[in-house]
Amino acid sequence: MTTIIYKKWKNLFTLLLISIFIFSGCMVDDHDYPSSRITISFNNDWMFMEGDHDGAQARRFNDRSWRALNVPHDWSIEGEFDQNNPTGRGGGYLPNGIGWYRKSFDIPSAFEGRRVFIHFDGLMANSDVYINGEHLGHRPYGYVSMEYELTDYLRYGRSNTIAVRLDNSKQPASRWYTGAGIYRNVRLIVKNDVHIDNWGTFFSTPKVSEESATVRVFTTLKNSSEISHQVHLNTLIHNPTGDLVSEKGTVIDLAPGEKIDIEQILEVLNPQLWSLDSPQLYKGISQVTIDNELQDDLVTNFGIRSFHFEPATGFYLNGENIRIKGVCLHHDAGAVGAAVPLAIWEERFNQLQSIGINAIRLSHNPFAPEFLELCDRMGFIVMNESFDTWRARKNHGDYGYQHHFDEWWEEDTRSIVLRDRNHPSIFMFSIGNEIRDNLDNEQGFETFRMQYDLVHKLDGTRPVTMGLFRPNQANVYQNGFAEMMDIVGQNYREEELLQASIDNPHWKVIGTENGHTRQAYLIWRDNPAIAGHFLWTGFDYLGEADWPEVSHDFGLFDRAGFTKPRTYERESWWSDKPMIRIFRREQHLGEGGLVDDWTPTDFDTYDEAHIEIYTNCDEVELIFNGESQGVRKRPADHSPIRYRLTYQPGSIKAIGRIDGKDVAIHEMQTAMPPSNIALSASKTTLKNDWDDVAIVRVMLTDENGVHSPNFDRPLTFNVSGNGELIAVDNGQRDSHEPFKTNVRRTSRGQAIAIVRANADVGQILVSVSGEGLEESSIEININQ
Ligand code: GAL
Repeated sequence: MTTIIYKKWKNLFTLLLISIFIFSGCMVDDHDYPSSRITISFNNDWMFMEGDHDGAQARRFNDRSWRALNVPHDWSIEGEFDQNNPTGRGGGYLPNGIGWYRKSFDIPSAFEGRRVFIHFDGLMANSDVYINGEHLGHRPYGYVSMEYELTDYLRYGRSNTIAVRLDNSKQPASRWYTGAGIYRNVRLIVKNDVHIDNWGTFFSTPKVSEESATVRVFTTLKNSSEISHQVHLNTLIHNPTGDLVSEKGTVIDLAPGEKIDIEQILEVLNPQLWSLDSPQLYKGISQVTIDNELQDDLVTNFGIRSFHFEPATGFYLNGENIRIKGVCLHHDAGAVGAAVPLAIWEERFNQLQSIGINAIRLSHNPFAPEFLELCDRMGFIVMNESFDTWRARKNHGDYGYQHHFDEWWEEDTRSIVLRDRNHPSIFMFSIGNEIRDNLDNEQGFETFRMQYDLVHKLDGTRPVTMGLFRPNQANVYQNGFAEMMDIVGQNYREEELLQASIDNPHWKVIGTENGHTRQAYLIWRDNPAIAGHFLWTGFDYLGEADWPEVSHDFGLFDRAGFTKPRTYERESWWSDKPMIRIFRREQHLGEGGLVDDWTPTDFDTYDEAHIEIYTNCDEVELIFNGESQGVRKRPADHSPIRYRLTYQPGSIKAIGRIDGKDVAIHEMQTAMPPSNIALSASKTTLKNDWDDVAIVRVMLTDENGVHSPNFDRPLTFNVSGNGELIAVDNGQRDSHEPFKTNVRRTSRGQAIAIVRANADVGQILVSVSGEGLEESSIEININQ
């Protein structure tokens, strides 16, 4: 044990050395290399070129004129919006095509005799990967992670080249924006002949109580050598504070070429349960030794929790009944496209949680592993979904997954389930969204069953569902299809799902995709048999919009993360924290959309103001220019509280009360034309890390600091010091301004800039200027 700990420290030190050498392209020899697994980020120093390039897979190919960059990288988001781009409405009218990436690197001769693998978390799309000109594999689906073994093709102690060809030239290939490129992380992993296979650990918790938990661990060991070995597998469990709380050793003989699953059962006393409020994470440490020499070691994060669904009352986590309040998300985050720094998701998750959301559906494909780690850390209930089509096509997706389903469903499903099955946040696997195959014949049944069986074989702990489409037309509620599902998931048509659950009281049911309407909400609210809803969507996403729009208004928040009226309406329905927000109809006499300002554009003619107030308080008092407009109770149907006033400039304030006590307040004032730029940042300290960014939010204000929404103008962003500007946006759906620039027009007086550090120490200064406005700046510190 002590030797192993000592070696681990030594390994860490050597690992640092190796990373330095590999990144700097130096040859490394005569070093004392770690004896077990080495994981090296392979994100830096790639060369990229759009278009197809004959012979670009070869090691000696001349790529000096190519663009040097680091990945994750989405080249589509850097392009221009154009109505004629073949991605069309699905891809947000952004460019597509073929692109090549190449990375040359020296590999230490000391790695000879070991096993070297490369991991891609996602390649968009139709990838071909080469090492020194040799083809390693082809993979159509852009959302799955993959591993290739490089061992036999490497030139040890010399230079090597990985080349990746990506092709999304056949369009339309998707109903939403996919991005293009090596848009997720890449890693190099060095192992020994005897090692834990890729995604080869599975920690689950079949028995959980407050006193103790049973942890069941499967570890897939592989012997790639030509001799037999007696192997020790030692599994340690560390609690969230890092104490060793359980340990199990197993000895096994592994024949040459043998791969074997080892089961171990461990006990954890007084477990700290993973829950939504307190998402406690344990670490499982798997150590593989031969004759006391460490061969492989791997850390798997997992959570100790129990869950189940009941037909009449829905979802239970650790015995507690929880209503699922979910959103669907696509994998892009607006201005950064598909290559999303984790800090943006973190900010978005905070926004979702702040209005009461507790669940996420990955629509309609697997996401990046660190996205799921964030769900684990922040406490979300996740539905992991594999496909948007099986064999039948969908509108606007002529070159979609239906062309690959037969050949790839099995391999892709394996990659998804094996990679993701340790995440405590995942509670369901969905094997399809609104599948258009005929589900009323034997082939439809068979296609369901084969996927269902495979998911259960790889992970027997989670129910399988799918987002059924128009079930009564598809006949799936009558023909026995829904009976096969662990959870009957259905999109929209909430009353049909409700009726099905009444007609089939043994079914466990969930809304896999839902609209924002109050009618849908009331079905959720009043029927505990519906385990939950997943709103379409949490944030506006790129694509699925008709020119001139490039994104649609589906989100609770817009593409830049700004709120909409429905953000607050949903908060009033789903949040437990007291809230109140005043809106008025944009035009007088109740015409137009809702806005949360007291500054009409038609100032002189705006007369009768129609007010709608969203609140979860029992009652509201509205005060207009100091005078009470009366107290009104929250309607039982949770519709907004309405008032009508003759418009006057000034101030309007709503006070929310529960049990007679003031618990929430919202006030709006009439704004003058803007003279100032108010800045705030999602974080004021950054690390020098690709995943860490700050979202700087801009609001035009008048001289009194009141948000001034009606005088939009272009702003110029200037980032100085030790940082860089990544992208700008304003959330406006029909804007065709590029994201990768330093000028952005405001929309309703708002815009954002995304900023990243480029040094380990120092400061970043973000300055924003615009005509007729006082320049403003905000400082962000860097702290490693
Ligand atoms: C659903 C579909 C989603 C999205 C949505 C737009 O039917 O599952 O992917 O297209 O419609 O309203």
